[in-house]
Amino acid sequence: MKVEFYGHVRQYHNIKSEIDKNIKTVLESGAYVMGPMLKKFEAELAAYHGTKYAIGVGNGTDAIWLSLMALGIGPGDEVITHPNTFFATAEAIWIVGATAVFVDCCPTTKCICPERIEAAITPKTKAIIPVHLYGQCADMVAINKIARKHKLKVIEDNAQGIGAHGLKFKIGQLSDAATTSFIIQKNLGTFGDSGAIVTNNADIDAAVRRLRNHGSTARNVHSFGFNSRLDDLHAGILSAKLKHIDAWNDLRRKWAARYTAGFKGCKTFDLPVELKGNRHVFHLYVIETKKAEWRDPLLEFLVKNGIDAKTHYSIAIHKQAGYPWGKKARIVGGVPNAESNAARCISLPMYPELTAKEVDYVIGKVKEWDQQFASKVPAGKGTAKSGDACCCGCK
Ligand SMILES: Cc1ncc(COP(=O)(O)O)c(C=O)c1O
Repeated sequence: MKVEFYGHVRQYHNIKSEIDKNIKTVLESGAYVMGPMLKKFEAELAAYHGTKYAIGVGNGTDAIWLSLMALGIGPGDEVITHPNTFFATAEAIWIVGATAVFVDCCPTTKCICPERIEAAITPKTKAIIPVHLYGQCADMVAINKIARKHKLKVIEDNAQGIGAHGLKFKIGQLSDAATTSFIIQKNLGTFGDSGAIVTNNADIDAAVRRLRNHGSTARNVHSFGFNSRLDDLHAGILSAKLKHIDAWNDLRRKWAARYTAGFKGCKTFDLPVELKGNRHVFHLYVIETKKAEWRDPLLEFLVKNGIDAKTHYSIAIHKQAGYPWGKKARIVGGVPNAESNAARCISLPMYPELTAKEVDYVIGKVKEWDQQFASKVPAGKGTAKSGDACCCGCK
């Protein structure tokens, strides 16, 4: 049996008529850039988040740096994030010329650890970028509290968690802006690149609208800016898909629960944890082998058996060759949890269009591997963990 990592084509086939209809509408409209379909999708996206504004941009990376730029953050400023995220989070900080300050993640959720943030704050700190990694919200209540205390800006990197929420908070509610990516592999993905920013801040909205379109507010009127627009064809595809996002995330949650139940009693790896009150949308279902040296053999075993498993992300940002490429960067307090995550993570196939047969096949193969190594688990490591509390005290 073959189990793919993504189900893009299956998804297209399931809602083909809705996508095709929107594509045709755009093609027939004659308006392909900054046209009515973009306007419609931006309104739908803002409504979905319950924010005042949504601005479509070229991709999820641009969404982060355009937000930083709109907040006036640049050279000489420090921005705190964590190193076990996709590279683009840090890249965006460097693009605006700021210093990336890396702190550790929570050992349980793998999201930024609020306790480590406060220790990294200096007079130069201007912002925090928490990432809702794998589809689960970072502890925005704690992060917002720290930000208010130290007068810092917060940009949520929500490339992976559209539709997620935390205990009593929504994405976009406890920050200055939340950014997202619509690259095809995301929970809400178009057939190409694009991204967006949602915010309740009218100044950020106006600044990003200007910056994304050559600094223009009216025809022939320009200030310093860029070209980073979400075109109407992609907006049409996303508008069709947005209607399904909650149902698709429910399916992701269903497959995640099936994996977790299927792995009961396994000894050689840990399971993803959903904190109480959170809605984890499982952009990725990531297990961690108990020993780092088991990760690659398990990955190879799965791939050999037709399962397209991957790693997110096996090289932490500060461990990439050439880091930091002449850019400004600091690591505060050591990042052992992030490094351990990078060394032990395996992402199993996860998308709404999976079938029970495919999920059960993956479970069967992972268990087969587990049984070979179960006797070699170091004492005191216990069986596969999952739970609802973060061991570093996050709520
Ligand atoms: C956490 C995170 N941030 C930022 C990005 C960048 O998004 P994009 O690829 O659309 O630029 C991605 C994904 O690609 C991501 O996973």
